[in-house]
Amino acid sequence: MERTFAIIKPDAVAAGHSGDIIRLIELNGFSILRLEKRMISKAEAETFYGVHKERPFFGELVEYMTSGPVIVMALERENAIASWRELMGATDPKKASLGSLRRMFGTHIGSNATHGSDAPETAAFELGLFFPDLH
Ligand code: RTP
Ligand code: MG
Repeated sequence: MERTFAIIKPDAVAAGHSGDIIRLIELNGFSILRLEKRMISKAEAETFYGVHKERPFFGELVEYMTSGPVIVMALERENAIASWRELMGATDPKKASLGSLRRMFGTHIGSNATHGSDAPETAAFELGLFFPDLH
């Protein structure tokens, strides 16, 4: 079993897609270990996306992630990290495969419905940031 960290981003929450996304998470065999609807602070967003701080879209990304409530989750499954990335689809919703969450619920690259950890080290870092009591 492996764990990953997931976010339903502000655009998808605001558009009313949370329920559909959570249903697909469960249909795809993930256990939801933790789930919380909350705001992300500017400081949290800057830490969370710290690897992107030199990128031109960093300011926009932080602005977007703090623009409204999100749903943060700890997910568990066999091969959870890669499986969740596959269910989400490519970063750009236009390039994401048919049936993927970003294709169905994302609108453009800066507003792409979901987040998922991209490696075991990032999953551990991100889970620790949002669910420090999860062991
Ligand atoms: P995420 O971290 O949110 O799960 O997305 P990802 O791994 O698929 O993509 P990543 O390269 O980590 O980028 C993080 C987020 O930054 C925004 N982005 N905007 N305007 C742009 O060219 C651009 N490129 C990336 C996206 O919202 C992406 O999810
Ligand atoms: Mg990423």
